[in-house]
Amino acid sequence: MKSAHLSTLTLLACSVFCIAEPLVIAHRGSSAAAPENTIAAFDLAWEQQADGAEGDFLLTKDGHIVCFHDQDTQRITGKKLIVKNTTLAELRQLDVGYWKGEQYKGTLIPTIAEVLATIPEGKKIYIEIKCGAEIVTPLLREIEASTLASDQILIICFKAPVLKAIKQQAPHLKTSWLCGFKKNKAGTITPTDTSILKTLKDIKADGLSSSHQHIQPSLIKQIQTAGINHHVWTVNEPSIATRFQQWGTGSITTDKPLLIKNALKAVPTP
Ligand code: G3P
Ligand code: CA
Repeated sequence: MKSAHLSTLTLLACSVFCIAEPLVIAHRGSSAAAPENTIAAFDLAWEQQADGAEGDFLLTKDGHIVCFHDQDTQRITGKKLIVKNTTLAELRQLDVGYWKGEQYKGTLIPTIAEVLATIPEGKKIYIEIKCGAEIVTPLLREIEASTLASDQILIICFKAPVLKAIKQQAPHLKTSWLCGFKKNKAGTITPTDTSILKTLKDIKADGLSSSHQHIQPSLIKQIQTAGINHHVWTVNEPSIATRFQQWGTGSITTDKPLLIKNALKAVPTP
């Protein structure tokens, strides 16, 4: 009775004094341990308590959507085929798991339908578009055919016009613009806050997904004030993850979901 009372008090104190935990999103699935962008990597993400998974998507020559990061297959398979010039059947001849270890030998490149089918109820998928707007119509068809609810899906892309096209055709879907920051020798960070806010508004994005390097908390504040969420990638260091938690970031994409999940628990208010 006494301990039940104590844990109620702890919960109450935490709801007042602790900072909300950002969602932990497994980058290309749980890709530190399993081969990136494969069903094995997505399944491992769910085992490792990820709140969601991120995957990269490309269109094949014959109009299928596959989960694959690079424009060609050299790095992952040792054989160079350009994905957009190759059919799904040809891509399915390749082994995309062996490079990560003998136990993954025989792993095939997954279609988007296969990836979406792994997402458990209540978990999220961040769909990163790695090509141009030609993917929008088939992608919306695949999403429609899946059993996922709209709030389980976030569409992300570095190309702002692609996200603009998604919003125009499917305003019910949430989008987040990917932006990497650079710092020159003089210490100037680009892109500027003003240009970022302009792009976000122009494409009606729901979020800004930034690299963790060089982003300033003042920018995060500004976008949050504008009603836009901040997300960050790819964070594999617990101390960096807790810093973003304190800045109110909505989700942290990581290759190591279990490590980051454990690190985020109940960071007290400074
Ligand atoms: O989540 C965004 C991040 O995945 C972008 O970089 O190269 O891993 O696709 P990349
Ligand atoms: Ca990605």
